[in-house]
Amino acid sequence: MGAKILEKRIIREPDVYYYRLEAPLISRKAKPGQFVILRLHDKGERIPLSLADINPKDGTISLVVMAVGKTTAEMAGLKVGEQIQDLCGPLGLPTHIENAGRVVLVGGGFGAAPLYPMAKAFRDAGNYVTAVIGARSADLLIYEKELSETCNRVIVATDDGSKGVKGLVTSSLEQEIKENGAGLVVAVGPAPMMKAVCNTTKPFGVKTVVSLNAIMVDGTGMCGGCRVRVGGKTRFVCADGPEFDGHEVDWDCLMNRQKMYTGREKESFEAWKNRHKGLAEEGAAK
Ligand SMILES: Cc1cc2nc3c(=O)[nH]c(=O)nc-3n(C[C@H](O)[C@H](O)[C@H](O)COP(=O)(O)OP(=O)(O)OC[C@H]3O[C@@H](n4cnc5c(N)ncnc54)[C@H](O)[C@@H]3O)c2cc1C
Ligand code: FES
Repeated sequence: MGAKILEKRIIREPDVYYYRLEAPLISRKAKPGQFVILRLHDKGERIPLSLADINPKDGTISLVVMAVGKTTAEMAGLKVGEQIQDLCGPLGLPTHIENAGRVVLVGGGFGAAPLYPMAKAFRDAGNYVTAVIGARSADLLIYEKELSETCNRVIVATDDGSKGVKGLVTSSLEQEIKENGAGLVVAVGPAPMMKAVCNTTKPFGVKTVVSLNAIMVDGTGMCGGCRVRVGGKTRFVCADGPEFDGHEVDWDCLMNRQKMYTGREKESFEAWKNRHKGLAEEGAAK
């Protein structure tokens, strides 16, 4: 089923966009932690994107997308009122919402956005929710305002100290656990960051859930493209996850599989950029 873009804005220059899509059926069923797979047009690639908000009342879902390659850059060129040809979801298992007392949510990159619906659910379940979000510098942070409205507390960490605590999210997380303890940590972001979060929480014995971003094709457990090793067993991120016990994840397996198509992805992005440039020049010459 297709979906109309109702709202689109850049939330971090030059490459992170917020989209609100008309998706009444998905919004009625979706839960925090789940994702959708979309295809922009007939010849488009299928890409998975996490739900950054779910609004069953107005029949919409929100996505926050970092334009990193061909499809995400092509999506950035779409306008309000235009249609995404295929939108499939909700996919994956929802976040297990429990009362763990103190929950610490850790976000890096686009990962701060999917924490937003999770934060609401963990607070509704009676938890004290702290978010730790990080970036290289203040201008690269996203979703600080949204998380401040939802969480009990937000800790910002920047590598260069331009905002909040100077250093990595893991240093702030470690300090938070030492000072206040944590019943549960949930991390969403790039794999090296989630791995570092798990290494930080392990000595404290704090349960740590991570949302894995494996390469996906069908998103329903049929193709095996998203397989990872968790606790010594093969698991499919799309059907058994995307969330898993981070202390059990084989991070090398995940990160190696993420790099499998790097050459082809670069080629396809370059070809798309050249074609795009050609079309723009043709248009200008007319
Ligand atoms: C469950 C899940 C949720 C995600 N949620 C978000 C989100 O909310 N916001 C966001 O910006 N990104 C999200 N991603 C990552 C997003 O899917 C990729 O950035 C996107 O597919 C890149 O496609 P591309 O053609 O623009 O770039 P490409 O140049 O094709 O790829 C860039 C990188 O993205 C990854 N990637 C490429 N194709 C896929 C694919 N089919 N499936 C998964 N990863 C892929 C690879 O690591 C690759 O190196 C999520 C990934 C997963 C698995
Ligand atoms: S994407 Fe095909 S099995 Fe998960």
